[in-house]
Amino acid sequence: MVSSPSSTSLIPFFKFNGSQTRTRRLFVAGLSAVLAGLLAVMIFEVVKHTRHRSRATSNAFALDPGFNISAVAALAQTLPARSWEFGTATQALLELYNPEYSVFARSWEFGTATQALLELYNAEYSVFGSQPFPVPTLHPSAIPALAYAQTHITIGTGSNSLANGSGAVGDPASLGVGAVMLSKTNSTFAAACQDEIDFLVSGAPRYINGAISQRVNSAELWADFIYMAPPYLAYFGAATNNASLIETAYTQCGLYREVLLLGSNSSTPSALNSSTTDGRWRHIIGPPSPDLGLWSTGNGWAAAGMARVLATIMKAPAAQNATWKADAVANLTGWIKEIVDGARSSPVDGNLLRNYLDDTTADGMGFGEISGSSLLASVAYRMVLLAPNAFSPASTYVAWADGIRAELGKDDHVTSNGTVTPAVNPLGWWESTPWTSGSPEGQNFVVLMYAAWRDCVSAGVCQA
Ligand SMILES: *[C@@H]1O[C@H](CO)[C@@H](O)[C@H](O)[C@H]1NC(C)=O
Ligand SMILES: *[C@@H]1O[C@H](CO)[C@@H](O)[C@H](O)[C@H]1NC(C)=O
Ligand SMILES: *[C@@H]1O[C@H](CO)[C@@H](O)[C@H](O)[C@H]1NC(C)=O
Ligand SMILES: *[C@@H]1O[C@H](CO)[C@@H](O)[C@H](O)[C@H]1NC(C)=O
Ligand SMILES: *[C@@H]1O[C@H](CO)[C@@H](O)[C@H](O)[C@H]1NC(C)=O
Ligand SMILES: *[C@@H]1O[C@H](CO)[C@@H](O)[C@H](O)[C@H]1NC(C)=O
Ligand SMILES: *[C@@H]1O[C@H](CO)[C@@H](O)[C@H](O)[C@H]1NC(C)=O
Ligand SMILES: *[C@@H]1O[C@H](CO)[C@@H](O)[C@H](O)[C@H]1NC(C)=O
Ligand SMILES: *[C@@H]1O[C@H](CO)[C@@H](O)[C@H](O)[C@H]1NC(C)=O
Repeated sequence: MVSSPSSTSLIPFFKFNGSQTRTRRLFVAGLSAVLAGLLAVMIFEVVKHTRHRSRATSNAFALDPGFNISAVAALAQTLPARSWEFGTATQALLELYNPEYSVFARSWEFGTATQALLELYNAEYSVFGSQPFPVPTLHPSAIPALAYAQTHITIGTGSNSLANGSGAVGDPASLGVGAVMLSKTNSTFAAACQDEIDFLVSGAPRYINGAISQRVNSAELWADFIYMAPPYLAYFGAATNNASLIETAYTQCGLYREVLLLGSNSSTPSALNSSTTDGRWRHIIGPPSPDLGLWSTGNGWAAAGMARVLATIMKAPAAQNATWKADAVANLTGWIKEIVDGARSSPVDGNLLRNYLDDTTADGMGFGEISGSSLLASVAYRMVLLAPNAFSPASTYVAWADGIRAELGKDDHVTSNGTVTPAVNPLGWWESTPWTSGSPEGQNFVVLMYAAWRDCVSAGVCQA
């Protein structure tokens, strides 16, 4: 388990960097009056940056969402045991403790910034108002998400380049964003990052429309893939200034949607009926193991993954002049919105989304549960900031997400040890028995929802 870095461990790190740069300037200036003035500015800057930095990390739990979020977050780190759970926990830790380094930060540039650019952005960057710009070289000892990722990445080859994916293509890629950040201070990770990209782009099977398969031994599309691989393709592209990889992240989302939402191709199973999905995605189109239902968690994976791709495209320097950028932003925004709107109009059970969003039958698979509900609520909180014109009026989307968050504060949905319940069994999405001993991914979805709400409150769009 990784604990939040204390503010004292961060202060010397930033003080040292700030003092060094500015001290050098003072010698160049050589005038005692200027020196005194600059010294005062230096002290002000160091104090300001240190204060904001420690606020972002030590006050991760500043707001009360209506339940014990620190207990939920503790289990979110200890329950994961599989590659995509580790990747999801890494992203949740990043958004929780270091929102300034996640793609949802207001201003973002990774790996390409010169020192001069960093100083420029330091002055303007804001998440909660006046955060310093992210330093591109991040040491795991100061960043809980990176310490966690370093512990849980197992470097291998091919589909297993970052973890044992047990036959999955996308799942190990969910650790990719953490691995890219780690590679900045530890070259061990750089080759593994490239291997993972190579397998996704050239090694994995493709569906007939060109979508990268979620499985190694067949061409099968899972909504889950969208949270695992496209955010990594986009992030790696941003970090290496490779616009075509960022574009691939976007086009893969579109190819998945073409099959899982529309399913209109005559070569896809005849059971598909596009007019009945209402913007929501089917879970898996195989063979060999299709699940044509509108799985709540699957819709969450797709919408949340596309939100990360969208944020990366909006902010990555490499994408700014791309001819496809405007279409990508408009299309991704629309694709996310149709899922969220589809979820919003779905029949709830006990104020929670049903495990299969439209299932009100007696088969037991449509029980209200916390995993898909929390992840989709997190998307609504993110999107009212990322795409305010489309997610309008914001109050409609915020109220909907607030309803899910408020529900978790009632009826013992969060038990005294931080277990959020009832969840769907993440390995048995068809099961009718709710999972009550803690879902590794569900716990992290609640953390993602909390971090998104907290940032939305800080931006003045949501209410505490
Ligand atoms: C919340 O959970 C944390 C960690 O389990 C615990 O230390 C703390 O006392 C709990 N807070 C409340 C108000 O119950
Ligand atoms: C990967 O994990 C599976 C269990 O999911 C196990 O059967 C397999 O041996 C593991 N492979 C490696 C290379 O460790
Ligand atoms: C780099 O990462 C590897 C794998 O986690 C680790 O064994 C090694 O100690 C790290 N090197 C440094 C310099 O931190
Ligand atoms: C639809 O089928 C045609 C012919 O097999 C194929 O070329 C195309 O890629 C398919 N599209 C989708 C979305 O499956
Ligand atoms: C971008 O990445 C792709 C896929 O790995 C690679 O083929 C291409 O050469 C890269 N482009 C640049 C400019 O590095
Ligand atoms: C598809 O949905 C439409 C509208 O709900 C319905 O009329 C039609 O019977 C459905 N077709 C199949 C094959 O289920
Ligand atoms: C984008 O275009 C502008 C204006 O032509 C130019 O100044 C800038 O350097 C370009 N950025 C990239 C990343 O190519
Ligand atoms: C994306 O947007 C453009 C312009 O709005 C549209 O022409 C195109 O068909 C869209 N792409 C997809 C895959 O829907
Ligand atoms: C927490 O409590 C639940 C019952 O509410 C139990 O099923 C679960 O095993 C407990 N988890 C831990 C980590 O103690």
